[in-house]
Amino acid sequence: MAMSLLVDAAAAQRQITIRIAHADPPDPFVAQKHAQALTFKALVESATGGRIRVEVYPAGQLGGEREYLEAVNLGTIEMGIASGAMAGFFPEAMVFDIPYLFPNQAVAWRVLDGPFGQKISKLMEQKTNMINLAYGEVGFRHFTNNVRPIHSPQDMQGLKIRVQETPVYVRLVQSLGGSPTPIPWPEVYSSLDQGVVDGQENPVSTIDYARLYEVQRYLTLDGHSYGVDFTVINKRFFNSLSPEDQQLIRRAAFTAARVNQGIKALNEALALNKLQQHMEIYSPTPEELAQFRTLAQQAVIEWLRTQIDPALIDEVLAAVREAEASFGI
Ligand code: MLT
Repeated sequence: MAMSLLVDAAAAQRQITIRIAHADPPDPFVAQKHAQALTFKALVESATGGRIRVEVYPAGQLGGEREYLEAVNLGTIEMGIASGAMAGFFPEAMVFDIPYLFPNQAVAWRVLDGPFGQKISKLMEQKTNMINLAYGEVGFRHFTNNVRPIHSPQDMQGLKIRVQETPVYVRLVQSLGGSPTPIPWPEVYSSLDQGVVDGQENPVSTIDYARLYEVQRYLTLDGHSYGVDFTVINKRFFNSLSPEDQQLIRRAAFTAARVNQGIKALNEALALNKLQQHMEIYSPTPEELAQFRTLAQQAVIEWLRTQIDPALIDEVLAAVREAEASFGI
């Protein structure tokens, strides 16, 4: 008995280090992942008096998303914040990338924090070595390119478009007539600059902070899909912690993900005005948007049904309808 108390006390005092990686710039006011990582660090370190230390590795110091997710999955680092590349480890993550799934952020946040979002997190825990602690936001994604203004899918014909390292975006761009090339995020600016690809797709605040407007002329506000940030921790590491530390980490991750969403939402609201000074911006008409939606959604859903349990697709569509109804949409 006395021995086990000693062991418990020693475990409680054990110094723990959590390394958390992301590939965005080390500025919390422009990069939501960095804001999230710094908030998580502050909350965990202050709640434990520094017993748990959090080291943040931003700006692709530990590689692009695929590389550091590999490290989290293997347990060579403890945590990462990532979006598209999650599909390489957990194909079910692509269910959130269905084109034109979410009508706005409010509906997306409700679905992610609701039973469907929890179900996807539980599935990830069962099928990988990672646990998703919280959802953050990459945001609504739009096409940019350097060749011509894109008004409708016809204008995408033959354009070489950089996509994230995930097959769902390859399908999306193919369905619209473009030629997709997966490239890790840290290499996107130079690939556009050197003409390796003609265009890319990202939310306006990302286009702004990554200064993609320096190497891209045309922006089309088609909002084809909503990117989700996953906040993952290695399962074996997490399960080795005391239940109290696990709860503390879950709470800190939840709050930090709110900061991620807030910073992203603020920067999304501010970025468009800034981009107007640098880029030619086009907002598709409802008819043009309908063309994007019909082509992309049908093709991606049809393909996704062959990649993951098709019931998940029906469930996410139902969860979106329920969230819409709760907002009176
Ligand atoms: C990407 O296009 O690789 C991502 O949207 C970048 C990010 O997560 O900020």
